This record gives sequence, structure tokens and C-alpha cells, in this order.
Amino acid sequence: MTSLNLKTNINRLVGEITIPGDKSISHRSVMFGSIAHGETRVTNFLPGDDCLSTISCFRKLGVTIEESDNELRITGKGFEGLTEPEEVLDVGNSGTTIRLIMGILAGRPFFSSLIGDESIGKRPMTRVTVPLKKMGAKMDGRKDGAFTPISIRGGRLEPIHYELPVASAQVKSALILAGLQAEGKSTIIEQAETRDHTERMILRFGGKIHKENQVITVEGGQRLKASTIHVPGDISSAAFFLVAGASIPDSEIVLKNVGLNPTRTGIIEVMEKMGANLKVVQPDGNSFEPSGDLIIKTSSLKGTIIEGELIPKLIDEIPIIALLATQAEGTTIIKDAEELKVKETNRIDTVVQELRKLGASIDATDDGMIIHGKSNLTGGTVSSHGDHRIGMMLAIAALLCTDDVKLENAEAISVSYPNFFTHLNSLI
Ligand code: S3P
Repeated sequence: MTSLNLKTNINRLVGEITIPGDKSISHRSVMFGSIAHGETRVTNFLPGDDCLSTISCFRKLGVTIEESDNELRITGKGFEGLTEPEEVLDVGNSGTTIRLIMGILAGRPFFSSLIGDESIGKRPMTRVTVPLKKMGAKMDGRKDGAFTPISIRGGRLEPIHYELPVASAQVKSALILAGLQAEGKSTIIEQAETRDHTERMILRFGGKIHKENQVITVEGGQRLKASTIHVPGDISSAAFFLVAGASIPDSEIVLKNVGLNPTRTGIIEVMEKMGANLKVVQPDGNSFEPSGDLIIKTSSLKGTIIEGELIPKLIDEIPIIALLATQAEGTTIIKDAEELKVKETNRIDTVVQELRKLGASIDATDDGMIIHGKSNLTGGTVSSHGDHRIGMMLAIAALLCTDDVKLENAEAISVSYPNFFTHLNSLI
């Protein structure tokens, strides 16, 4: 466990950062490279702990993956090229790895077992095991298939017609990956639009998938062809610097190479509504995942309401948006976000508990939180609780604090942003 004394009392942040690769897209680049035919080259891959767990799982499934300088070369031999692992597949802290890999393994005619860290052991897997079992996979796990360790004996799959009970890109993606191996056409219906990186990857790898009004159809038996993937920067990582730049006086930060997929840009919408001075420059809407540069400058901010269909478009940014709300005049209400309870930590509880320690006025509700601004933040000893996004949010909060701040469990940050502190220090 690493404790860090964080930088506090910062009166301006200025500079330029190139945001590291998107975590969701990095995971999928390894998975699709592994199930396609031929050599896939990935550039700007995120070498965060979560994505390294995905690489390690696919190596155990017999895939050759070469890594150098954030570049990958993956030699895929199709779904049928995956082989029975001799060891348990360890997903570490990564919910995306475990949920998506289950969709792939459900169709493979061999036995595999999945474990992860303490946080993964508390995260619900029924949302994936129930529909995959309906398709014909044999799966089990602790508490009747609800929690890790999970065992899978895959095989022939029936297509599925399934209305997703939760707005989850991980569940949707697991079913699409199983659907690609099923005998016939699967239909998956989303209750709210979630990140569509899996759908975009299928098209990029030469496959077909159809989407209309949140109804997704995918044919089984498609042969995917290797591709080249340039991973754009992660807007979820950029979010920490957007909030820092908006709330620390006299700041101006340029964030280069940020992914701007419209299923992920809820934070831009919210910050604009709150009065942030945020500009998108040089957008590239032509590549398979859009991207652009962002410029954020300090401004005065006001509270807002965040709810409904916007929630899945900023679900991972809610901890840092909560911090932003402490620096806005008036009340911010976040609702319809009960999914926060089943993230790396219960993010309603961890955000409220840790920000209160620093002097914020914030209350938990059943499906979100209510924040009263503007607060002067003080200091204290806080913890990431092993959750990377809570750790980074607290490091940004510390910049606004008048007294000393110590962060416990700081090592969690390497899950999604290994060079976070190098980037932060370059702006001070
Ligand atoms: C992800 C989907 C989201 C998100 C997670 C990454 C993905 O989870 O919170 O960090 O890569 O598909 P859910 O699908 O559980 O909402």
C-alpha cells in the first residue's frame, strides 16, 4: 500500500498533455485482434494494469501478442484459434476484461476459469452469466454464478433475443461477442445508449452489425479480418485535467488526442452547462473512433442536474464531476446513477465519504448524490479504496485544498493512468 503526500494549494495549472490511450478501446483491440484472422497492429495502446490483464488472459488462451512502446502486434487465428488455458485466467481489477471475455469463452469448446482481485470478487456477474447460460454456455461461480471465481465450459450457442436489464456496455459487448459465435441472428435491446466501441470494432475488423433505435442485431459465424487500430486518448482520463483546469484559478490546459466518441462525451455537455470555458479544436471525425484536442480555461461555475440517458455517457466521470460540483455555486443533483454502486468501489459511498473528509458538502442518495457548492476544501488523510478513479479525483481535489492531504492506496491509479502524476506535475 503506497501513501502519498499530495500537492496542495495550487494557484494555477498551465501546459499541454497528450492523453494516454482509451482503456475501453485498448481492451477491445486485444480481444478483436485475438479473434480475427491475421496480424493486427495497435498503436497508442494503454499500458495500464487493466489492459495488461487482458493481454495476459489472451496469451494464456494461446494468442501471440508482442508488445513494445505502447504498440502491439497480435496474431489472431479466429475464435477457433483460442485454446484451453492451462492456468486460471486472472483479470486483476478489470470488469471489462472479465465480462467481455466471458462472451468469447461462452462459445469455445473447452474449460476455463476466471478470477480477479478483491474488488472483482464483489462485482455482479449474474448480468452476464444469466444470458450466456440462456444461449447454451455452461457456467458457474460462487453464489450460483453471481461472483468470481467463475468457471465456463463453452460450446455451441443459440442466438439470443435479449432486452438488457441494465444500461451496461460490458453486458451488451459480452452478448455481441457470444452472438458472433451463435448459430443465427441475435438481437440485443438497450434501455439507454451505452458506449459503442464493440460495435465500431466489428465494423473495423470487416464484420457486420446493425443498430437502429437501440436495437442491435448481429449474425453468428462471421469471419473477422485483422486490422490496424490507433487508440485515441481516454476522455475518462482527460476528465481529471478538465476539472482541474476549470476550477483552479488562472489555468489553461491543452489536452491533445482525446477520444470524442459521442457515447462518451457526457462530461463535455455537463461542463458546458455548468459554465466551463472548454473548446474542442481540430476534431477528427473521420477515423473509426473520433478524436480531437480540448482546451480548458478557468471560469466561474454553477450547479446543475445530471440524470437519465446522460448517465451512461459519463458514468466513469461522476467522481470527478462531483468534485467539480463542490467548486460550483449552488446545488448539483446527480440521479439515476445506481450503477455507481457496482463499480470498482461503491462510488456513491466512496466519493461522499472521501470528499466530506476534505470539507465538501455532499450527501448520498439512493441513486446518486447531492452537492452544495461552493466549498473551501481543507485537508486530511483520504483513501482511493483501491479505486483508480477515486484516487485521481482526490489528487485533483488536493490541488484545491488549503491544508496537507495524504492519499492512501495511491498505487490503484496505475489501473488506468500509470503516468498520471508525471502529467499532473508537468502543469504545476
Ligand atoms: C466499460 C463499460 C462501463 C464502464 C467501464 C468500462 C466498457 O461499465 O463503467 O469502466 O469498457 O465497456 P458498465 O458496462 O458496467 O456500465
